[in-house]
Amino acid sequence: MCGIIGYIGSKPANEVIFDGLTRLEYRGYDSAGIAVVDKHKIHVRKDIGKLRNIRKLLLDEFESTSSIGIGHTRWATHGRPSAFNAHPHGDCHDSIMVAHNGIIENFMKLRRELAASGHTFKSETDSEVLAHLIEASYQGDLKQAVLQAVKSVEGAYAIAVIHKDHPDKIICARKESPLIVGLGKGENFVASDVTAILQYTRQVVYLDNFEGAEVSREGIKFFNADGNDVEKKSVQIDWNPVAAEKGGFSHFMLKEIFEQPQVIRNTIGGRTSEEEGKIYLEELKLTGPDIYRTQRIVMVACGTAYYAGCVGKYLLESLVRIPVECDLASEFRYRSPLVDANTLVIAISQSGETADTLAAVKEARKRGAKVLGIVNAKESSLTREVDGLVYIHAGPEIGVASTKAYIAMLTALTLLALMLGKIRSVLTPEYVQEKIRELKILPQQIERVLDRKDAIRDIAATCLDARSFLYLGRGFNYPTALEGALKLKEISYIHAEAYAAGEMKHGPIALIDHEMPVMAIVTESDVYDKTISNLKEVQARSGRLLAIATEGDHEITSLTEHVIEVPRVSDIFSPIINVVPLQLFAYYVADLRGLDVDQPRNLAKSVTVE
Ligand code: M6R
Repeated sequence: MCGIIGYIGSKPANEVIFDGLTRLEYRGYDSAGIAVVDKHKIHVRKDIGKLRNIRKLLLDEFESTSSIGIGHTRWATHGRPSAFNAHPHGDCHDSIMVAHNGIIENFMKLRRELAASGHTFKSETDSEVLAHLIEASYQGDLKQAVLQAVKSVEGAYAIAVIHKDHPDKIICARKESPLIVGLGKGENFVASDVTAILQYTRQVVYLDNFEGAEVSREGIKFFNADGNDVEKKSVQIDWNPVAAEKGGFSHFMLKEIFEQPQVIRNTIGGRTSEEEGKIYLEELKLTGPDIYRTQRIVMVACGTAYYAGCVGKYLLESLVRIPVECDLASEFRYRSPLVDANTLVIAISQSGETADTLAAVKEARKRGAKVLGIVNAKESSLTREVDGLVYIHAGPEIGVASTKAYIAMLTALTLLALMLGKIRSVLTPEYVQEKIRELKILPQQIERVLDRKDAIRDIAATCLDARSFLYLGRGFNYPTALEGALKLKEISYIHAEAYAAGEMKHGPIALIDHEMPVMAIVTESDVYDKTISNLKEVQARSGRLLAIATEGDHEITSLTEHVIEVPRVSDIFSPIINVVPLQLFAYYVADLRGLDVDQPRNLAKSVTVE
């Protein structure tokens, strides 16, 4: 998804901006551009393609060493990927340049009106209207012109604006799209994402909706929608810039898979007391009455976060005995959902910026439900829309395919279920004690799975020509099958479908033949025997069976072509461990097929449009 960086200081702006843009690459983009102010002139260069291919234009042969400018990576929504649709966008005379994230919903109307009053458009984008609106309002004061312009806009925006006659400031503003200001010494930054500026500063201010900032070399003035000054507090980002680099791994995705043992430790760190059999989730902010009053829980999320929610359903129903529904956020928001003050809505998101999830949360709150966020990105938009929070502490996730955030979401949901189960007297302190103990050894057990990476790679190598996969699981591991299939299709581009194993005979069994690999998650559980029966149905039709099974399971080896063994864990923890070999399998299939694992085609890391 689009990324913004702005710089004002003493270094060549295009160098700082180009560097920042490369750190935003993980968000997914199709074109990029940079604009700077130099001697009352704007210099703008932009093109379609990856930064490494347009480096000459934006960096090596950039004609100005000006120290103020803005840059953008674009992920096409309105208008195809092209040089003229790339940002920054200018007004009629290229006096003003705007980098924009978000969507201007009423841009057709605005564009018609602006065109009728003589403005000429150069792109097909919604964003360009912003530059013309600012031009129309400009009377020498850039901040006032920006404030005036955004008044006519419906939709979401995070913008950074420069003007040829104001070499001393960048004006930025936001509504519904994230934007931060980074504080340096004699230099300051604007960015859509901390990753872009972490190598320069860790001191940042998060803008809220309808806020803006006038960013100069000497300092920053924050203002509200009326243009009045507002006081903002900066926060120190504890993410290490090195954590945002690959650290010796060939891809971010592989690095993030290997970080998972540590991620689990971070997610549970300081939140459990083994002696007392207690879980502490400080930011939860649910009162005793809130917890007792809850009659129903609804999970809302998208993609991998949604599958984490599906595991959450199994966890909460078995450990808290409250009915749980899982809803895709994009469906929930438009179907007049039945939620009320006795419903707890749990919104799950790595980025905290997913447009559908944010909208679902607003809808739930409008209907009186309490909303709890399970979120990775600190201070993200979602964290400000919810009544309570559980941070998952996965650290920056750069690979577009989510891995460590999923594991952290499952860990956080397990903590939540144990805590609520104990408070509602469904679980005994002894049970919780035992589960805390087991949870603490999970990281070592995952390390054992990671040690099998070469064997998993060899199995992956036998599947490179498959045209389609079927993933099967039951109970706690039906969502694991869904997540495994999603991982494979999003990075290897091989079609993969997941089914609850018991449902296979009701249709998908027709697909099975000797060419169709079937990946079964069949670790020890109450539904083990049932799953084995389903796998025999595959075997009887000459299907190619691959399985994730518990160490020492001899029965499964007689059925399958390949088995990936995982350590024995309680059923409630099995989704956390079983997904790891599926992540590695998907990774190696994609890598061996020579694909861009970290930035798969058509995908964006943070989906901030509907
Ligand atoms: O940031 P979020 O967790 O809200 O993102 C939700 C989905 O867009 C995300 O999980 C997506 O499905 C990933 N590509 C999965 O790997």
